[in-house]
Amino acid sequence: MTGLSPNCLLWKYNTASANVFAMDTANLEKKVASHYTRGDVTERIITALGLQDAAYGSVPIESLYPVDQLHHGGVKLTEGMAKVAEIKPGMMVLDAGSGIGGSARYLVDKFGCKVEAMDLSEEFVRTAEDLDKLVGLSGGIAHRTGSVIELPYDGSTFDAVWSQNVTMNVSDKRAMFAEAIRVLRPGGVFVLTHIGEGNGDAIDFPVPWAMTEDTSFAIPPAELLQVLADVGFQNITDHAKGAPSAPPPPMADGQPDDSPAMGDDMPQRRANTGRAVADGRLIPMMVTALRP
Ligand SMILES: C[S@@+](CC[C@H](N)C(=O)[O-])C[C@H]1O[C@@H](n2cnc3c(N)ncnc32)[C@H](O)[C@@H]1O
Repeated sequence: MTGLSPNCLLWKYNTASANVFAMDTANLEKKVASHYTRGDVTERIITALGLQDAAYGSVPIESLYPVDQLHHGGVKLTEGMAKVAEIKPGMMVLDAGSGIGGSARYLVDKFGCKVEAMDLSEEFVRTAEDLDKLVGLSGGIAHRTGSVIELPYDGSTFDAVWSQNVTMNVSDKRAMFAEAIRVLRPGGVFVLTHIGEGNGDAIDFPVPWAMTEDTSFAIPPAELLQVLADVGFQNITDHAKGAPSAPPPPMADGQPDDSPAMGDDMPQRRANTGRAVADGRLIPMMVTALRP
């Protein structure tokens, strides 16, 4: 270890390449945020969907699903997560790592939840607000920029903390999960999807969440479940069996997908993930855990 405080270092041991290296939190988050920044995401989405002349409030939420669900399985994964988390009308939900707001809008629209949405990417937060306006939800979701490892909310605020495909970019999962349990009310549910490390063989980069291994933290399922238990969660269950797994069905030619937000190389990145899931190098998880 160096003379630096262990708290400001994120150590990663990569079993595939046997590299050990460290990156401080600020640098890691800067790199991750830039991975999720294109500069013109709203314009790319509006163009892909042919919505250049659409008035605010005129676009059905469903027509955004092909482009705003930035995870394997698309809206099916979101539906599955809502089911296993037993989301109910009026719940207070934190979407931790909310992307461009696809799931937040779904939870407001389908369940009448009150949703706070937080993401590291300033551009994704701005796009989320732009898309809210298009579907008539302007101001209905509180979006903010920030990190899931340091939440700006009082303890016992939320009925559910929801986090879809975010943990693969978070090195300090203990800090993230400790924050999740702190802001949950007693009896509240933490629901997350994670793509876990499988048999330890190297995966091919780029993948949807990272261009290289230095921002990829896909830890093995047992390790992730253990960290949840360590911070105090109970009734920890992996529901992944039967949940949509990577990759999503191929898009028909010309049909929009999440490339406008995620980048034009998404077909290759999805394919790399899909092969790794098929041969056991990656394992998709869908987990619920309760705050006692
Ligand atoms: C693959 S995208 C998923 C977005 C969204 N959950 C969805 O499924 O549509 C991962 C998201 O996690 C966000 N993220 C990664 N690390 C984060 C952190 N430490 N705090 C907040 N957001 C983070 C990224 O900015 C990105 O928007």
